[in-house]
Amino acid sequence: MAEVVLDVQNLTKVYGERKSVDNVSFQVYAGEVFGFLGPNGAGKTTTIRMISGLASVTEGEIFIAGYSIRKNFKKAVSCLGGIIENPEMYKYMTGYDNMKYYASLYNGITEDDIWEVVKLVKMENRIHEKVKKYSLGMRQRVGIAQSLLHHPRILILDEPTNGLDPAGIHEMRDFLKMLAHERGYSVFISSHILTEMQLLCDRVGIIANGRLLAVKSMDEWTEALSDTVNLKITVDCPNRAKAVIEEEFKIDVVLNKNLINFTIAAELVQEISKTLARHEIAIMSMYTGEKSLEETFLELTSKAGTDIK
Ligand SMILES: Nc1ncnc2c1ncn2[C@@H]1O[C@H](COP(=O)(O)OP(=O)(O)OP(=O)(O)O)[C@@H](O)[C@H]1O
Ligand SMILES: [Mg+2]
Repeated sequence: MAEVVLDVQNLTKVYGERKSVDNVSFQVYAGEVFGFLGPNGAGKTTTIRMISGLASVTEGEIFIAGYSIRKNFKKAVSCLGGIIENPEMYKYMTGYDNMKYYASLYNGITEDDIWEVVKLVKMENRIHEKVKKYSLGMRQRVGIAQSLLHHPRILILDEPTNGLDPAGIHEMRDFLKMLAHERGYSVFISSHILTEMQLLCDRVGIIANGRLLAVKSMDEWTEALSDTVNLKITVDCPNRAKAVIEEEFKIDVVLNKNLINFTIAAELVQEISKTLARHEIAIMSMYTGEKSLEETFLELTSKAGTDIK
């Protein structure tokens, strides 16, 4: 079993009256890319800010490489590197001078150390150019190189592909996988795009409305999300049908004239027709539609249900 590098236990953040992060627990192992997936406002950045020591923890515990953020803050954050907001860089200086400046903030970082990370992010040919000439993807790479300088165990990136073009996203993906799978770093990356996580991550935790729904491998998520169907049924008394299904299956039903529309676990389709028959509601037609993974994900996270475990 791989070593646990990040251990988040029952993490909660309250802003005013609201729980922005609600009792979230998960673990990230050495050598894996862990995706933190959720829609806007789900609580990703808030969680990441707590892990990085940039926001206070309302309740819960965070351990980085075994060090508690509360009790051993300096040691804990020394094992962590990341780009939380924008990569901090002086645009009129070269990439290399930025790296040297950043290195001077720490003790004992040599020129060899700098070159090692510059090569790792494949910036050796452009590192002597001014940052203002870099593309966003190149700035991200130098930012990541900076955050690797002090030899962290885990790299934390908050939506690093925002603003990158498809080629830039592809490069970033290959590069993050290499860091995890070949160099043994833990890579923790947040995103709101399911398809992006599918191609990058070994395991994914889905967060919605501050709650972590579950952590699964991408294959397991694909299976879990595929296991629902969308039903469109025309009936003789749609209002009553809507009420019956909502009451008995605890789901939301959309009503459009005499058509009712909802999404449900595939195994319950037969139960639906039996239930309607029991209530003497006549089915005129029934259409079962497949949903894309993305659609199911959106539905799941907008309801923030805890029904997928
Ligand atoms: N400093 C703050 N004060 C009050 N509320 C906050 C603060 N920061 C975040 N929130 C609230 O916490 C919730 C979660 O926000 P957060 O930024 O963590 O979401 P996110 O998943 O990163 O979203 P996005 O995809 O838009 O970046 C939101 O409702 C937000 O309004
Ligand atoms: Mg965010």
